[in-house]
Amino acid sequence: MKLYLDTANVKEIQEGANLGLIDGVTTNPSLVAKEGRSFKEMLLEICKMVDGPISAEVVGVESEAMIKEGRDLAKVHKNIVVKVPLIPEGLRATKKLSAEGIRVNVTLCFSPTQALLAAKAGAWCVSPFIGRLDDVSSDGMALIRQIVTIYKNYDYKTQVLVASVRHPQHVVEAALAGGHICTMPYSVFQQLVKHPLTDIGLKKFLADWEAMGKK
Ligand code: E4P
Repeated sequence: MKLYLDTANVKEIQEGANLGLIDGVTTNPSLVAKEGRSFKEMLLEICKMVDGPISAEVVGVESEAMIKEGRDLAKVHKNIVVKVPLIPEGLRATKKLSAEGIRVNVTLCFSPTQALLAAKAGAWCVSPFIGRLDDVSSDGMALIRQIVTIYKNYDYKTQVLVASVRHPQHVVEAALAGGHICTMPYSVFQQLVKHPLTDIGLKKFLADWEAMGKK
């Protein structure tokens, strides 16, 4: 499973990228707004840090506006994936942009029927928001399993990008469900490697080694 960082913060992206395990980055208008800087400049900086798909979202809500924005964003860097919301106008834009060879991440997906339509429109990936579903007492991970099954049944090439991840257990379940990509906040990525028994075990190994050296 590919691991992406879900942030527009270049410091976090650089730290994550230093480990050499980050496959891509997703941003959204809220994450970009939080940084308070030029969108395109930020995208270029991110593209230099991570050599993989970098999602950048359009803010238009009509297909023509989305198509224009999408074409502009795709010109910023070859790794840009254009993010389009899962509304009828977004699907129209997805079809057009995909036909032009521009990769589209269809975002704000909350149901299997929406995901089916995204695949039919030729999306490069679809982003089901599992945390936000969990927040309203729905089973976010059940949606991932449904979409993975539907795409397999019909051999759709659209990838399932598990989004709105809140904790490491979401990452485990995404991998078990066969999600292709999982995007997460940097704080969750940092937690993936941690286990107290690893720290205790290492401490003991080093202490035993040290004690032997003293004999
Ligand atoms: C996905 O691409 C979105 O940016 C993101 O995962 C949304 O997560 P949130 O529900 O934590 O805002």
